[in-house]
Amino acid sequence: MTKKMQPVLAYNTGEKDDKSWIITETRFSNTSLGKTEAIFALGNGYMGLRSASEEKYPFEKRGFFVAGTFNKFPGPQEVSELPNAADFLNMEMYLNGQRFDLSMGKIYAYEKSLHLKKAELTRTILWETPQGELFSLEFRRFVSLADKHVVGQKVTIIPLSNAAKITVESGIDGQVTNSGTQHFKEGSKRLLKNRILKLEQETTASGIRFVHFSKHQFRKTTPILDPNHQVVMKRRAVHQHFKAITVEQNESLTIEKISAVYTSLDKDNATEWVEQAQTGFERIDTYDALFEEHAQQWQKIWQMYPIEIQGKDFDQLAVRFAIYHLVCMTPSHDRRMSIGAKGLTGERYKGHVFWDTEIFILPFYILTYPDMARQLLEYRWLSLDGARKKARDNNYEGAMFPWESAWVGEGEVTPLFGDADVVTGEATPVWSGFEEQHISADIAFAVWQYYEYTHDDAFMDAYGYELILATAIFWQSRLEWNDQKSRYEINRVIGPDEYKEHINNNAFTNYMAHWNMQKATEIYHHHLKPEVKLRLEENWQLSHYMAKIENKHHKLYLPQPNTVGIIPQDDTYLSKEIIDLGPYRKVIASLLNTYNMEQVNAMQISKQADVLMLLYLLGDQFSDEIKLANWTYYEPKTLHDSSLSKSAHSLFAATLCETEIAYAIFSDAARIDLGQDLASSDTGVHAASLGGILEAVLFGFGGIQIKQGELHIEPQLPAAWQKLSFRFYWRDCPLQLTIESNRTLVRNDSADIVQFKNGGRLIELAPEKTVFIH
Ligand code: BGC
Repeated sequence: MTKKMQPVLAYNTGEKDDKSWIITETRFSNTSLGKTEAIFALGNGYMGLRSASEEKYPFEKRGFFVAGTFNKFPGPQEVSELPNAADFLNMEMYLNGQRFDLSMGKIYAYEKSLHLKKAELTRTILWETPQGELFSLEFRRFVSLADKHVVGQKVTIIPLSNAAKITVESGIDGQVTNSGTQHFKEGSKRLLKNRILKLEQETTASGIRFVHFSKHQFRKTTPILDPNHQVVMKRRAVHQHFKAITVEQNESLTIEKISAVYTSLDKDNATEWVEQAQTGFERIDTYDALFEEHAQQWQKIWQMYPIEIQGKDFDQLAVRFAIYHLVCMTPSHDRRMSIGAKGLTGERYKGHVFWDTEIFILPFYILTYPDMARQLLEYRWLSLDGARKKARDNNYEGAMFPWESAWVGEGEVTPLFGDADVVTGEATPVWSGFEEQHISADIAFAVWQYYEYTHDDAFMDAYGYELILATAIFWQSRLEWNDQKSRYEINRVIGPDEYKEHINNNAFTNYMAHWNMQKATEIYHHHLKPEVKLRLEENWQLSHYMAKIENKHHKLYLPQPNTVGIIPQDDTYLSKEIIDLGPYRKVIASLLNTYNMEQVNAMQISKQADVLMLLYLLGDQFSDEIKLANWTYYEPKTLHDSSLSKSAHSLFAATLCETEIAYAIFSDAARIDLGQDLASSDTGVHAASLGGILEAVLFGFGGIQIKQGELHIEPQLPAAWQKLSFRFYWRDCPLQLTIESNRTLVRNDSADIVQFKNGGRLIELAPEKTVFIH
């Protein structure tokens, strides 16, 4: 009988207080390095660092990204991407002449863990060299949340069989690329004060300057003040080779490597920023002191997001994991940046920003940290020039937001070509940059959602109204008049279901565009202060376009439910061939290895939630019967071939009050990154899915909704949970929601009366009071 292999990832390995905070890789595998490099990635919103090992391996993918530092490799088919910056993690260790390499010798104990509470990566290893010498090694690492430029590493080596001579090669290596594309000029390198390694580089086209520093400290029982070393300067790299340090049997050698990176994009830069950075770096302290400050900042983070689940430790862990990664990927220091589809954990999608941010991540911030939501929307406002340019380039008016965005104002950066077609072998064109236009309405929708929860008038006056109006101006210019049918249509688009290209009247796009234009008319007549109106008149010729919007928007075709209640996803979807998706739903990747896009386009297969996404976002406009009919029709035809799909379906099932179905799908979504599939996250974590998991918890199970401008709280607890509790903000008032199997409590922690609805009742909750609801 074959012995069943234990899963590689272990969860909740901590005890008591540490429970549901730790994820551990229990076995080293040379071929699935990508999984923990991505899901254990460290970051602080300023930078993100894949958790590759100190020592190098052939199938690894090292990655270090600094938010916003986009560069464009020259060439008509190239687009801006976030460069993979110099690698400073690498440390090669030679133990009695044998390179430390886990693919050789014997591993007696191995654990690589991410500790979410303090955001620290550790590896503990008991390793025997091929020569039979035993060593204990411990690695620790963090990316500071207290000083956004700083990264700390600490390695402790103990020879267990006999004394050992330990040699270490370590430095800063700029020979990295983005899968072959080199984004930096050669730059300059120095060893300063016989101790500090410095590499200065500049991106080839955007001219962003980077300066990297690293310094080492060796200690046995006392510090080794001047270790014997040699400086090695190669192309784009500067290293120190620390020579043969003798360590006795059972004695420990600790090596601390502290690194920092600064760039010319840093907002606090003075003219002499490189010199200042250097002086600052010289003063930087030891690992333990730096780590302490960092851990305190993380403690504050966990206090900001007190989401508690009792019943399933994995679910609690999954929620913390999602929050952890959102903090690591959100550039809270600079509103000129937003969140990439892979956060700062991988090269895939080139660091670009999609609708993922507004539709899947923003709702979490709106509820729990509204200022962050506001800042992310300001990124879109700062991007209006690029959106205006895209509209102009395509002969439209107003603001047509890019499907993929990079630097503010740059405009469309969606690549023109993707991978080769499996049938023809030709590079497949990527149409989303031209056709996936719903993003303009998605951004407008997110602005309004933020406003409904916050009533932040100052934001709306300065940014929000303009975003909704400028996108509405785009839509009125985008509509196509169909003379035969006496209606406007939107043709040749891609909806959220990217399997369907060049389609007409995608229900999601038409309804969202209609919503966008209708909201613009409401705002124009009821919300704009005279001075705001005047400014927008100057910027956008508002009155001229408002007349057009008002004249056109109600003539836009909105696909209606057919006789059995199904809203056609587009003009032709319902007449396409239906195939049994069963085998493909189990193994997602194989569908596109069997059929090419043209063939998939001709079948009723959806990549992800499309009509259902519409029914969720504009839920007010559709009855429960219509929602159920469309769920029953579309879900089985959905491959969930986008990580955005599961959480969206979980949320939708919750709106149907199908709690256990919602929970089963939530459980799948929670395992997209965190599950045992060792290849699922190689190219980076799935930012939208992580946001979506939190959305499913707060809005789905927590039952937070807005209907006609009113707050509704209709919670539903999955059978697997005994308790769900969290804090959220409603118009500046912090509310604490605690859902247990037999009762739900809402506590008003503000000084104002809060009104909300539950089970058809209007509840007025006085300041500092708690109420029981259904
Ligand atoms: C999905 C899009 C998503 C993009 C980035 C695609 O696979 O279909 O909806 O925006 O990935 O996450």
